[in-house]
Amino acid sequence: MNREEVIAWLREEDEEKLQNLWRRVDDMRRGHVGEQVHLRGLIEISNICVRCCSYCGIGSENRRIGRYRMREDEILNCVRQAVNFGYGTVVMQAGEDYGITRDWMTGIIRRIKGETELAVTLSLSERPEEDLAAWREAGANRYLLRFETSNRMLYDRIHPPLGEKSSDRFAAILENLKKLGYEVGSGIMIGIPGQTYEDLARDILAFRTLDLDMIGVGPFIPHPETSLGQGSDDVAADQVPNTEKMTYKVIALTRLVCPEANIPSTTALASLNKADGRELGLMRGANIVMPNLTPPQYRVMYEIYPNKACINETSEACASCLSMRILNIGRTVGSGQGGRLKSNMR
Ligand code: 5AD
Ligand code: FES
Repeated sequence: MNREEVIAWLREEDEEKLQNLWRRVDDMRRGHVGEQVHLRGLIEISNICVRCCSYCGIGSENRRIGRYRMREDEILNCVRQAVNFGYGTVVMQAGEDYGITRDWMTGIIRRIKGETELAVTLSLSERPEEDLAAWREAGANRYLLRFETSNRMLYDRIHPPLGEKSSDRFAAILENLKKLGYEVGSGIMIGIPGQTYEDLARDILAFRTLDLDMIGVGPFIPHPETSLGQGSDDVAADQVPNTEKMTYKVIALTRLVCPEANIPSTTALASLNKADGRELGLMRGANIVMPNLTPPQYRVMYEIYPNKACINETSEACASCLSMRILNIGRTVGSGQGGRLKSNMR
């Protein structure tokens, strides 16, 4: 598929043609990654962040939220829950928080790998190479870092530098992670103010070039306490809408371009359509969901965008809710770690 074909699909409004696309993509998903939906338990271990990305509700400029960092024993309790619920992976996510020290995190990873069969995924922003290397060495399997947009100018606009250090997830970080032997997940937001159809098509084609193991895409949801959430004048002439429908198109095209990838039906999508957004994502290309394991008192503080799905639920509620949703659409709950397909040998 070339850029023009991707753009044509992104602009497609004919319902019949879209139904054909959903069907084709669902067949492709079944053929390449099967009926299992893998569960990745998400632990939001800290909402402290030194960055001020202009879309994100936990950026350092937001003084209206309480800040937290979970204790080691609290994290390990969530890990035990993941095992009890039958999840194959835990994802530890946080802002760029240097209170999460290299050694502290190394200890936690070692304990999880020593005490459980879980795959360990980290999503801790742009850390120095020494940290990433130590965590990989300690047994972390995967790292998630979305590049958000392949339009360099737009990227720089929404990711202010940190002192002297500019933000460069696209090249340095993603390449570095691969070199260290992580399975790498990345992805984008859809409908960022200033993002054009051409940008979005380039993002989707970049997924293939980057050879990613996991690709997460979700709608941009304006957060009132951020500069990008103030109602922006940055809207492009050829602006991509941040809609539910556009999100399904991007999930579907991602599956077409990367048939073997692990593609989550994201929380941001579920937040736009709480009734059945997650299911529709799974029926239009996705094969992963990420149930939230964060304890309720912290969960409410990890509000990267408003009206986030599951913000008031418990981990038990999400566990049973999601397996029911998966079974209801005729799929099965995945067993094992559900890692990269091409490299299970690695
Ligand atoms: N709307 C949608 N997604 C967001 N993210 C952060 N802020 C927002 C927002 N306002 C996404 C980014 C980030 C991931 C953890 O959450 O893509 O990489
Ligand atoms: Fe959290 Fe449904 S997944 S309540």
